[in-house]
Amino acid sequence: GAASKGDYRHFMLKEIHEQPAVIAAALEGRLGERSVLVESFGPEAEALFGRVRQIHIVACGTSYHAGMVARYWLERFAGVPVQVEVASEYRYRQVVVPEGTLFVTLSQSGETADTLAALRFARTRGYLASLAICNVPGSSLVRESDLTLMTQAGPEIGVASTKAFTTQLAALMLLTLALGRVKGLDGGVQAELVQALRGLPGLVASVLKLDPQIEALSMAFAEKQHALFLGRGAHFPIALEGALKLKEISYIHAEAYPAGELKHGPLALVDSEMPVISVAPNDELLDKLKSNLQEVRARGGELFVFADERVKLEEEEGIRVLRLPHVHEALAPILYTVPLQLLSYHVAVLKGTDVDQPRNLAKSVTVE
Ligand code: G6P
Repeated sequence: GAASKGDYRHFMLKEIHEQPAVIAAALEGRLGERSVLVESFGPEAEALFGRVRQIHIVACGTSYHAGMVARYWLERFAGVPVQVEVASEYRYRQVVVPEGTLFVTLSQSGETADTLAALRFARTRGYLASLAICNVPGSSLVRESDLTLMTQAGPEIGVASTKAFTTQLAALMLLTLALGRVKGLDGGVQAELVQALRGLPGLVASVLKLDPQIEALSMAFAEKQHALFLGRGAHFPIALEGALKLKEISYIHAEAYPAGELKHGPLALVDSEMPVISVAPNDELLDKLKSNLQEVRARGGELFVFADERVKLEEEEGIRVLRLPHVHEALAPILYTVPLQLLSYHVAVLKGTDVDQPRNLAKSVTVE
């Protein structure tokens, strides 16, 4: 029957809260004792992964941000060079495909026109194989790809993607560890990450319990016209995703920058009207941020920090801190996505926008 919101006010909120269960579903049956089961990607995956020499990832919107996170993981743990591109650019480029390149598409719907067109184009370009990581079984993308991995998030109704994204990330960590296993990634590192993955649904559940604190933070954004998200490494794409969520549902102009670029332009924009959100900074990054912020403090700049409980940081004038439970550093991008989803959600509710059906946007962009 028709999907129901249950006790939740919006589908988006329900889908945010489903994340512990659907991340567990995305991992279900795919983890061995100390490594990922490579056959999760199909019976031919083991032989095929052995021949992978580079990867091209193509997607749109939120799915593209998942691909950007995966680049950090795949290069670090599987040692394979990765390119990530939005489908609408990729498909119109004279792409060069070196021998042994795996083509990966990421899509919630499996029906996004540009992603599908990119796959069809890629199939004529001599790739080793195509892999679709997708949430809708039987979708066009799934039917037309050589290998598939379903994200198992269940139907996503809210236009702003939430659980589809975090399950894509879980699936991409599975891909990283499957490829890493075939490529000789250290067994201890594999075992450690597999164990961390098993703990992830529980950690996401504890982050959801921070909802009242995040709702309180949201008040500082409701009257703002702009916001700036900062992240470093695999948290830069999470900053991009946080900014996208805020734009999509609250219509606040938001940008994301890699933290190190702050001084190369956006710092000029920071004043009391421009809150700055820092995602998962480590101690070293925090020191740099604080010194940057000193320069804008005089103008009332306010910093919101989402940080590991082990990071040394006190709240002070102009700095508000939300502490997250400690998580394996490689999986932190998944965990830090959740408070940013909740922040956007509460800002949108305060502003009274149509959270599940934002103006001008569609759940699935099936025409160009
Ligand atoms: C639309 C949706 C986004 C989604 C994007 C890609 O823009 O509003 O939430 O991320 O399409 O969709 P896909 O189904 O390919 O992941």
